Amino acid sequence: MSRRNIVAGNWKMNLDRAKARELATAVAARSAEAGSVELVLCPPAVYLETVGNAIGGSEVALGGQNMHDKASGAFTGEIAPSMLADLGSRFVILGHSERRTLFGETDTTVNAKTKAALASGLTPIVCVGETLEEREGNRTQAVVTTQINGSLAGLSPTDVEKLVIAYEPVWAIGTGKVATPQQAQEVHALIRGLLGSLASPAVAAKVRIQYGGSVKPDNAADLAVQPDIDGALVGGASLKADDFLGIAKAFA
Ligand code: PGA
Repeated sequence: MSRRNIVAGNWKMNLDRAKARELATAVAARSAEAGSVELVLCPPAVYLETVGNAIGGSEVALGGQNMHDKASGAFTGEIAPSMLADLGSRFVILGHSERRTLFGETDTTVNAKTKAALASGLTPIVCVGETLEEREGNRTQAVVTTQINGSLAGLSPTDVEKLVIAYEPVWAIGTGKVATPQQAQEVHALIRGLLGSLASPAVAAKVRIQYGGSVKPDNAADLAVQPDIDGALVGGASLKADDFLGIAKAFA
């Protein structure tokens, strides 16, 4: 089964408009370095249009970092799925651990957002991952199973096939502590098995599962050779074109 690797940059709440334009322009200009790897940039929502213009005409795709699950209405400060699509986004990160821990998102929230994203033609990048306490308490498998089953509840096999999943151990995000390739592969294989039960093994074999958490150019190659790791969701290292493309190259 050949899956096209996908490397996405989660810029989080960083950069200003000029720096966003500069970084996106550099990534687009050098996207050939990533070979066949699909590249996605997820800037702060207010810079989606700027970044969309900068990467226009290139192979690089645009994505949001979050969205509301409703189509429109009295939701002050929120952004509708159709608004992301309107600005050219093809992807949206959902259920990132920062959304879950700092903004109270639950599997139920993520499930509603996942369905809404699919209905708007966006590809959700659904994030799951355990905390350090959960890993040390041997609860990784149980936690990830609950997150996958809850976040993807009620999706048809056709919908499951469209997803990208990101396994991001919370203890590895922004800490410089990357999961070992074996630790990551073990959870990726678990996730693929769960997708097989939710949809079918044939569908699960097509879903891209990214690893996220302190991915850097110098640790990406060891992750990339794992059979169930199909790319990376990159935070800190996505803010430098050299590092982001260095990671992408490892997955090419
Ligand atoms: P990091 O973030 O690469 O800075 O660890 C990853 C993420 O939060 O998606």
